[in-house]
Amino acid sequence: MKKLFNFLFLGVILLATGCEQTASDQVQSPDKQLTLQVGTTDGKLYYQVSRNNQPVIRPSYLGFHLSESNLADGLEISGIHHSSFSESWDQLWGEDRTVDNTYNEMRVEVRQKEDMNLRFSVVFRLFNDGFGFRYEFPEQEHLGDFVIMDELTEFALAGDHQSWSITYDREFYEGLYRKMAISELDTVCTPLTIQTADGLYLTLHEANLTDYAALNVHPDAADPTRLRTYLTPWSTGEKVFVTTTRVSPWRTMIIAENPGDLMLSRLMLNLNESCKIEDTSWIQPGRYIGIWWGMHMKDYTWEIGPKHGATTANTKRYMDFAAKHGFSGVLVEGWNLGWETWKDFSLTQSYPDFDIEEVTRYGEEVGVKLIGHHETGGGISNYEAQMEDAFAYYHKHGVNAVKTGYVGGILEGKERHSSQFGVRHYRKVIEAAARYQIMIDNHEPVMPTGLQRTWPNLMTQEGVRGQEWDAWSKDGGNPPEHTTIIPFTRGLAGPMDFTPVTFNFTNKVLPNTRVQTTIAKQLALFVILYSPLQMASDMIENYEGRPEFEFITVCPVNWEKTVVPEASIGEYVTIARKDRESDNWFVGSITNGNPREMTLDLSFLDKGKTYKARIFRDGEGADWKTNPYPVEIEEREVTSEDILTIPQASSGGTAIIFTI
Ligand code: NOJ
Ligand code: CA
Repeated sequence: MKKLFNFLFLGVILLATGCEQTASDQVQSPDKQLTLQVGTTDGKLYYQVSRNNQPVIRPSYLGFHLSESNLADGLEISGIHHSSFSESWDQLWGEDRTVDNTYNEMRVEVRQKEDMNLRFSVVFRLFNDGFGFRYEFPEQEHLGDFVIMDELTEFALAGDHQSWSITYDREFYEGLYRKMAISELDTVCTPLTIQTADGLYLTLHEANLTDYAALNVHPDAADPTRLRTYLTPWSTGEKVFVTTTRVSPWRTMIIAENPGDLMLSRLMLNLNESCKIEDTSWIQPGRYIGIWWGMHMKDYTWEIGPKHGATTANTKRYMDFAAKHGFSGVLVEGWNLGWETWKDFSLTQSYPDFDIEEVTRYGEEVGVKLIGHHETGGGISNYEAQMEDAFAYYHKHGVNAVKTGYVGGILEGKERHSSQFGVRHYRKVIEAAARYQIMIDNHEPVMPTGLQRTWPNLMTQEGVRGQEWDAWSKDGGNPPEHTTIIPFTRGLAGPMDFTPVTFNFTNKVLPNTRVQTTIAKQLALFVILYSPLQMASDMIENYEGRPEFEFITVCPVNWEKTVVPEASIGEYVTIARKDRESDNWFVGSITNGNPREMTLDLSFLDKGKTYKARIFRDGEGADWKTNPYPVEIEEREVTSEDILTIPQASSGGTAIIFTI
């Protein structure tokens, strides 16, 4: 239920002009711990942020270079308006149901004193868990359509903190996060997660990236803990062509006392607009399997031939398995013309051995949906020309989810995924898919920014170094600590289609590369790495007859509530989530290459109730390198008063089902 109250409009006009002076005002978070001040000095607009009087962001400049004019100096504040807002709203799907959205807002109106007398506003919102701000350009006489050549926003940190990031032009964001001091960063994309010397955790990112270029940051040469903005450019050098959307995305920072609270912040979602889809009944989170890992293992091919994976018979075999084991969908890649050349894919013509009528008829009979696949190879014009027909084609066959792919470093031969060109394209796809009641799982995306609040058919995205790297990466695969870092970096931007649950650790294609975990850790990843479409990615043969697979067949993907009992970035993480449909809780806990003992305080369980805990843990002698397979399944009765201590192997884990 939506509740709106306490909407105040104070209309404080604070400032007289005075060009050399520093004029300022401030806004605080509702709990008064965070304070953001804004002012001008020598005609430059700045903001700064403190937490309990300790600086978090030192004075940092705001502004733009436009093609028409320079909004870096010669500025004055012409008005400041304060207001407050509070509501709670429900997520259609997510890591928790109800989200609190309470903030204090300060709208700062800025005027260029000379040149073109341009006007813009900066709107700051202070939440208890961080802040966001964005620029708005009202319609005005001297500013019709215009071009942003550079956004000048700065984030001057209060110290040379440790941070986790990937470099900005890492293809599709599929990199290993590096831990390094802020001053040592190159140009990095956001989310950028930071740990301060006083034990604060900060995540710099953006929300509601609409018709703009993605945010990246780099240290200032003279003052290297001052991060400066670098928007992903068009191939022609411009950053943003401003036409109808005259507001920037929100620049956001979560401020937390521990890594778990970073994960529980919903600030990014709160800074997106509410749902624009009226009938959402067709948006259904679910578990899926797919004709996929077999291609990576070279048992199957995407293109037609003697080992073609996407055949009618094979799809039916996968659908039978899905129906038997509680999966709602089967992804089928390589069903359509174009895979021989990876060019000019047809998204409405199937290979002759894939009969879509028959597989979707069969799916309906056994209660499993076909999950569609659109690989574009980065050919945007080819895709956009077919898109309506391609979604209509799947819709006609009852398909309500499509995985999209854009393999190729550059879109359309010249533009970056994270440029305004890419941002516009990806939004077009989401909106078109919504018209055909199709959910999207995008594999080479622009970094997510919370758009799923507005378009909840944007279910999940890869845009992460996922489990496929354990099939073909020459560096040996994802190191054990990788999945203890990404929940606190890329994962803070939105759901990740990481595609976990490998049960066979032999890689016959590249014997020195493999999934570097135990089986129990694979189970736990189903809980840890949130995705409302969550894949069990191995070939189905590898799941047959394995008792521990039970965990995957019952683990929900849509949650009432999430808590993070323990976490240390790069070392270990334990997450407990309550099912939306029942009173059951599920826990996933993982460690890096170091064995450890998980100590799990069960106080999150309902008081006074006795639960049956079904525990899937690393078995005797488990070790990711030498013996990844042993899993022990045990049962205990527990209450919220108990503390479980369970040993975890090197790159091991624990998965637990709590039922009443
Ligand atoms: C890369 C994606 O990550 C993978 O999932 C997919 O199978 C291939 N592209 C082919 O589309
Ligand atoms: Ca990929």
